[in-house]
Amino acid sequence: MGWVSIPDPPPAAEDLRGLARSLRQLLEFGTQALLEDAEPAEVALRISGHLGCELTAIVLVAERFPKWEHVNVQRGVDAYLRTQRDDPEWFGTPGSGRHPHEDILSLISSPASQFVMFRGPRAHLIRGGDAVSGGRGAASYGTAAVGPEENTEVVTFGLVAAAAPDGAPVVIGIRDESQFGAPVCNLEILAADREAAAATRDEIGRLMRVHDVFRGQVLSFTESEHHGNELVSFLPRPAITAQDIVLPGGVLDSIEQHIIGIAEWSQDLLSAGQHLKRGLLLHGPPGTGKTHTVRYLTARLAESTVILLTGRSIRFIDAAAALARRLQPSMVVLEDVDLVATDRDYTPDGNPLLFSLLDAMDGIGADADVTFVLTTNRADILESALADRPGRVDLAIEIPRPDAGCRERLFRLYIRDLAVDADLEPVVAGTEGVTASFVKEMIRRTVLASLRAGERPPVLRDAHFTAVLAEMNGERQSLTRSLLGVDAGEDAGAGADPDGRPVCHRRFR
Ligand SMILES: Nc1ncnc2c1ncn2[C@@H]1O[C@H](COP(=O)(O)OP(=O)(O)OP(=O)(O)O)[C@@H](O)[C@H]1O
Ligand SMILES: [Mg+2]
Repeated sequence: MGWVSIPDPPPAAEDLRGLARSLRQLLEFGTQALLEDAEPAEVALRISGHLGCELTAIVLVAERFPKWEHVNVQRGVDAYLRTQRDDPEWFGTPGSGRHPHEDILSLISSPASQFVMFRGPRAHLIRGGDAVSGGRGAASYGTAAVGPEENTEVVTFGLVAAAAPDGAPVVIGIRDESQFGAPVCNLEILAADREAAAATRDEIGRLMRVHDVFRGQVLSFTESEHHGNELVSFLPRPAITAQDIVLPGGVLDSIEQHIIGIAEWSQDLLSAGQHLKRGLLLHGPPGTGKTHTVRYLTARLAESTVILLTGRSIRFIDAAAALARRLQPSMVVLEDVDLVATDRDYTPDGNPLLFSLLDAMDGIGADADVTFVLTTNRADILESALADRPGRVDLAIEIPRPDAGCRERLFRLYIRDLAVDADLEPVVAGTEGVTASFVKEMIRRTVLASLRAGERPPVLRDAHFTAVLAEMNGERQSLTRSLLGVDAGEDAGAGADPDGRPVCHRRFR
């Protein structure tokens, strides 16, 4: 043991910093040398063992999918594996989660010692086959929806040994990536030669389409909070029948003929050289039944895939149109198009979103069995754009406020089998100008009025109707009335006429 004498005068701060820099460089060189000598990770040995080639000779064929397609990637791989073996054994690498940006090949090509465990600000290099090194680990799993109420397990990082269609050994990998940008799902095939990997990828791609979970579903594209990416979610198919809709005579028939008639005769129409693609515009005041009609069409087209885009999610029109083309027969519903008609924020060329929408409609081949339904209560905003680009919308239907005949049908529809002790005629006459949703709400309030009066089961009486109509037309309801589609800006004075019949003295939007 010797004494270290402190030089006098002490070294300058600059010299000390230089010494520290040199020592650090030395450490980095040493680490690098260790990595170069290191053994391949156990997982790499397993893969190269299965493929029967050196690690450096492995070829990677990869395909990236948006995250919402992950479930289809899993389905495709599962279907592929089913053709080969009963019980596929997925495996992973314990360090996988710490290498989010590498592809599987570069990850497994890392020497065992490069599986670094981070603790706090310092990285500790751990060698050997212990739990945090490059040994084999379990695959990681997550869940993905396959229907409105149903989920399935998906591999978020994992590898499985398999064979290419021609029997050559391959390793199939699924790897989620969500660090930066929109989350993606990578399908990665490792093989000793490119053809085997590519053929496996193609076959999985074919099986993905055969087992596509989106086929025949009602889907909506919604903006995710994470990364602002598009996400597809499943909705239950509504069970609405023609009896649930009240529209002026002939309106529902024209809509059905256009949408469902063409679907039913699609093969014959194609044979006769006719196009199938169709566009329907439903316009009219809020609360008159545009969405209700769309829900009815969704119920009627029970075999079709329906893709719903509302408001801002209309910016996903290109992905939605591609999905519609892939999953035909299909219907793309673009709700409340006016909300984004002039929105330039989300279009690459800075054109209004409506133009992108019309382009996407145009981009689908005429013989595709794809229906576009646009709804709006501002047909005036769309008018010029539609007129400038004809052929996208081939039927425009106005869904008006109900006339007296329709209002009577609406009252009967929403009264259903409730007990009524009232003359409906004055109620119908007194609700001129209201919307269907107003009538629906009126019935609910009338039932409530009866319940409040102690009637069980409720009985809908004249007095309840009169009181409710007065209430709904009252000043304090102005906001509610505007939400229900009645113009709040007009005279809100209402009540009963000299005979006690409810009246409303106002113009409605
Ligand atoms: N024509 C109708 N026949 C029967 N019920 C209707 C009709 N219109 C509306 N309703 C009822 O009112 C509710 C609201 O109507 P809906 O959402 O279809 O209005 P909308 O026309 O789409 O309005 P908005 O322009 O605000 O989107 C429906 O869910 C339905 O219960
Ligand atoms: Mg609507």
